[in-house]
Amino acid sequence: MHRRRVFPTSWGIFVAAAALIVSHIPTSLGVIDEQYTTKCGQNFQCTNLTNIGYPFWGGTRPQYCGHPNFGLNCTGEYPRLTILSSAYRVFSIDNTTQTLNVVGEEILRNCCSKYTHNTSLDTAHFHYVFDTKNITLFYGCRIPHGAPYIPTVFACYGTTLVNHIVYNACIYSISDTTEYSDVTCNNSVIVPINQEAARAFAGYVVNAYEGLRSGFGLQWEANDTNCERCVQSGGICGSDTSSSGSFVCYCSDQPYALTCQPFFKKGRINLQHSHSITTLLMLWPRGSTNFRSIEQYFGR
Ligand SMILES: *[C@@H]1O[C@H](CO)[C@@H](O)[C@H](O)[C@H]1NC(C)=O
Ligand SMILES: *[C@@H]1O[C@H](CO)[C@@H](O)[C@H](O)[C@H]1NC(C)=O
Ligand SMILES: *[C@@H]1O[C@H](CO)[C@@H](O)[C@H](O)[C@H]1NC(C)=O
Ligand SMILES: *[C@@H]1O[C@H](CO)[C@@H](O)[C@H](O)[C@H]1NC(C)=O
Ligand SMILES: *[C@@H]1O[C@H](CO)[C@@H](O)[C@H](O)[C@H]1NC(C)=O
Ligand SMILES: *[C@@H]1O[C@H](CO)[C@@H](O)[C@H](O)[C@H]1NC(C)=O
Ligand SMILES: *[C@@H]1O[C@H](CO)[C@@H](O)[C@H](O)[C@H]1NC(C)=O
Repeated sequence: MHRRRVFPTSWGIFVAAAALIVSHIPTSLGVIDEQYTTKCGQNFQCTNLTNIGYPFWGGTRPQYCGHPNFGLNCTGEYPRLTILSSAYRVFSIDNTTQTLNVVGEEILRNCCSKYTHNTSLDTAHFHYVFDTKNITLFYGCRIPHGAPYIPTVFACYGTTLVNHIVYNACIYSISDTTEYSDVTCNNSVIVPINQEAARAFAGYVVNAYEGLRSGFGLQWEANDTNCERCVQSGGICGSDTSSSGSFVCYCSDQPYALTCQPFFKKGRINLQHSHSITTLLMLWPRGSTNFRSIEQYFGR
């Protein structure tokens, strides 16, 4: 009883305000939790690829848990990623090197005579791993009678032999020419291949279909450094759905642009909290910001 007189009556109000703030925290935590933390806090599975995390999303994982350009389609027999409107089959994802192994779906399905476009990448988010090589596929090739043996020729859709002339043959080349001046081809595409396949192609010891289907490696760039920092600060990585899809760090109180902030150091405090804190500061007894007495009050 004697102790209580040490504090002015406004302390009572101060404590009530503090209690009000404290009682608000669990509520807002719960809301954020449900919307982001539970959904983004767990890695997901996409067909037979397991344990996939940021920047990927798809299947049961919403887009705001990943980066907009890294959506996986998990409805088919394998995970599919679309880059510049071309679909790729994803064989594997390695989050330590930030690489994934893919093969163009068109190659997979119609190898090789119907491959109609050069592979092009969204270079802001993907580049080839260092040992990627190119192979050029020529198709619609006419090989005249008496032409030298071509070890890189392979049969493909529509290949015919009429009067010793081969029509619609396909030829692969590790350079960008067919290397045979009397062979004419209607079209060509450049396809990236992994180094192992490139070696096999160079030694003519590969079935063209198998070499092409083994795919190639891509390195990704999706604000992974931001993500590391966010995780270190106790947050979960994701992206902003409302605007540009820029990086967002989901924290226990609210989403931040980069990293979680300690509660009282927040840059953006939501209206309800800031109002409570303003009230609290107004009620703070002037000239008595003595933390020891506060500790005493709380019964230390
Ligand atoms: C997924 O299944 C395909 C065959 O359907 C296989 O080639 C691939 O290696 C599998 N991936 C994993 C990670 O098990
Ligand atoms: C990286 O992959 C491993 C194993 O696949 C997984 O345990 C880990 O949670 C992943 N990390 C992130 C940040 O996704
Ligand atoms: C997902 O892939 C399936 C085939 O596996 C396709 O039918 C479907 O249209 C794709 N969905 C999207 C959203 O691209
Ligand atoms: C692919 O690129 C090569 C070289 O740039 C070009 O000659 C060829 O016409 C391109 N093919 C297609 C189908 O666009
Ligand atoms: C493969 O071809 C692409 C153009 O299609 C080019 O940008 C890339 O540098 C080439 N890579 C190699 C290893 O020659
Ligand atoms: C090249 O294309 C033309 C039509 O564009 C076709 O008539 C011709 O047969 C093709 N040549 C070969 C060798 O396939
Ligand atoms: C990284 O995030 C910033 C802002 O959040 C965004 O402007 C930038 O495009 C992102 N980078 C990539 C590669 O997505």
